[in-house]
Formats: sequence, C-alpha cells, structure tokens
Amino acid sequence: MAEKPEKVDKSGEMEMLAQAFAAFSEASAKLEEKYVIIEEEAKKLREEVEDKNLQLSKLSGLLSSVLDNSNSCVTAIDGQDNILVKNPVADSFIQELGMDLFMDMLRSHEKPGVYDHELDGRTFRLSVGLLDEQKGFVFVINDITHMKKLEGERQRDEKLVLMGEMAANIAHEIRNPLGSIELFASLLERDLKGDESGTKLTRSIVKGVRTINSIISNILLFTKEIKLEPIRRHTADVVDDVILYLSHLMKDKNIKFINNIDEDHMVCCDFELCKQVVMNIVHNAIEAVPDGGKIIIDSFQSGDVSGFTVTDSGTGISESMRKKLFIPFQTTKAKGTGLGLAIVYKIIKAHNGAISVDSDGTSYTKFTVEFPVK
Ligand SMILES: Nc1ncnc2c1ncn2[C@@H]1O[C@H](COP(=O)(O)OP(=O)(O)OP(=O)(O)O)[C@@H](O)[C@H]1O
Ligand SMILES: [Mg+2]
Repeated sequence: MAEKPEKVDKSGEMEMLAQAFAAFSEASAKLEEKYVIIEEEAKKLREEVEDKNLQLSKLSGLLSSVLDNSNSCVTAIDGQDNILVKNPVADSFIQELGMDLFMDMLRSHEKPGVYDHELDGRTFRLSVGLLDEQKGFVFVINDITHMKKLEGERQRDEKLVLMGEMAANIAHEIRNPLGSIELFASLLERDLKGDESGTKLTRSIVKGVRTINSIISNILLFTKEIKLEPIRRHTADVVDDVILYLSHLMKDKNIKFINNIDEDHMVCCDFELCKQVVMNIVHNAIEAVPDGGKIIIDSFQSGDVSGFTVTDSGTGISESMRKKLFIPFQTTKAKGTGLGLAIVYKIIKAHNGAISVDSDGTSYTKFTVEFPVK
C-alpha cells in the first residue's frame, strides 16, 4: 500500500517571501526615485556643459577673430620651440624673414619682457610673456622700423630747431655790425671817387660783407621753418633788387648780364624768400662762369604758372651732381656750404612751385623756376 505524502506547512516561507518581495519593491521604488533625481541632475549638468561649450566656442571664435584682425604678429611656442599658435601677421613675418630667422628671433628672447631686435636693417619690438602650462612663451611682435625712423627724424628736427635758435641769435648779433660796415664802406667809396686803388679796396669790403650776409641768410633759412606771406609782384621787382645787390660781384668778373624779364609778368610769392631764390641761383651762376662770361634771365607766364629762367655760360653741372643738387651740403666748391640750392628747393616747395635744371655738363646751365599763379 502506497505511503500517504506528508503535508508540509509552507506558510512561514511564503510569509518570508512576501516580506522579501515587499522590501524589494520598497527598495526598487526608492531606487526609482533616486534615479529620477539623478537623471534630473544629469540633465542639468548636461545643459551646463552645453552652455559652457557654447560660451567656450564663442570665446575661442572671438579670440581667433581678435588674433586674425590684429596688426601685430602674435605667436606662442612650447618648451620644445614648437609653434602652438600664430596669426596671419605671424605668417607674413615668417614668409618675409624665413622660418629660421623668425625662430632665431623668438629663441633669443625667451624671457618675459620687452625687447628690440635688429634684423636685416629692420627693428622688431617683442613683448614676451610666459605660457605656464606649456612651459613656453607667447610673443607679440611689431615692426617698429618706421617708428624708429620717425623718432630719429623728430630728434634731428629738435636739434635743428635748437640750432636754428642759436643761429638766429648769432646772425642777429653779426648782422648789425655788418650793416654798419657795409654802409661805411659805401660812404668811403663815394668819398674816394677818383682814387682807383682806394675804391677797389672799399668794393672788396662791400663784396665780402654781402657774401657773409648771404651765408647768414642761408643758414637762417635752412634751420628755420618757412612761413610764407605770398603776394603778387612783378617778376622784374624780385630780380632787379638782387641784381643790384650782386652787381659788385658781376663787375669784378666782367660778366655780361642780359635781363630779358618781361615788365608785365608777375609772380605770386613771398617777396623776400623769392629774392633769396634768385640770389642763390644767380650767385652760383656768377661763381660758375669764367671771366667775361654771360648770364641771362628770362621770364615766362602762361596758364597757371609763371616764373623765370637763369642761364649761364659756366662750367655746367655733371649728371651725377645734378642728381643730388638739392640735397643739403652737396658742394664742389672749396668754400661752399652746399646749402644754397637746398634752400632754393625748400622755398619753392613751400610755394608749391617747381624747379628744374638743364646742363650739358661742360658749357652751360639753365635753371627754371616756376610758381603757381594764384
Ligand atoms: N650754375 C651752376 N653752374 C655750375 N655748377 C653749379 C651751378 N649751380 C650749382 N652748381 C653746383 O651745385 C653745387 C651746389 O650748389 P649750392 O648753391 O647748393 O651750394 P654751393 O654753391 O656749393 O655752396 P653755398 O652754400 O655757398 O651756396 C655747387 O657746389 C656746384 O657744384
Ligand atoms: Mg651756392
């Protein structure tokens, strides 16, 4: 006979299972709650990161457009001299100088500070900063060659102004006694009429005084800023005064002077300065012609210009001299200062006029001076 199965009481186990299930449900509900919170946090963080990324990309866009538009060369290198960043100006510097010279320039200033670097006749100013993380350096470089030149010119101008003031003071002191000497010598010449050798001596005094006067005027004009007071005058007025003043010198060399100025022609210029122009050009002509030589002055007036020409039968001016004629201190004369034509040029430019020279280099020279008709 089969054995009747034993009845097992499983109610205890069931209860434990139910309890475990309840605990599991509770934990899972809690987890779910936490998960929701975490998910919200994660979403917030994601949004923050996206926001930061956006800000970062805006900033880097801004930074690269600042670098691209900068007139300075900006570049950064790491500790192994690898270029980390360079803007378009840096590219053009590299192209102009070559990579080797460019890198040499950076390497020779690997220390924070400001340096001037001379290269190929140019001056570069480098501002160097540390790039901590990369153990490298950031460089901002500018080509200051032009600025340096201007600075040099400014210093030279300042010196010239000082020289001008000094020269003006000296000239003032010299001119007064000179005027008296010239006057007394002229009076003496009148008194000595008939006395050939006496007259010759007094003429030499007047001539010497006038030469000194002309040198002083040139130095003053060279160092001082030109201030124009232009007026319309007959060309003849300007020339006549000068010719009278230089007549002693012409007589001494038996120069044949031909005045072809048209009495109706006019020039618009600063009277005193224009006289200085004629004086310097005619003075050169007198010095260039041989004894018994010829000097001719003509005038012209057409359209919007008027002026005069001075032609002499002198030594002529060589081509090489013609090229540097208006540059200060260019002279072929033992006692010349080389300022005469530089001043002529300065005065004519101040009037917006023009000067040209024509010569065969051996037997004649012709200067043409023109002023705009206002
Ligand atoms: N008419 C001319 N004929 C020949 N050479 C001339 C003539 N005019 C100028 N020159 C040349 O040009 C040079 C420069 O002339 P510029 O008048 O500037 O100086 P300079 O006459 O030498 O000295 P200064 O300062 O005393 O005038 C002269 O030294 C001379 O060689
Ligand atoms: Mg001269």
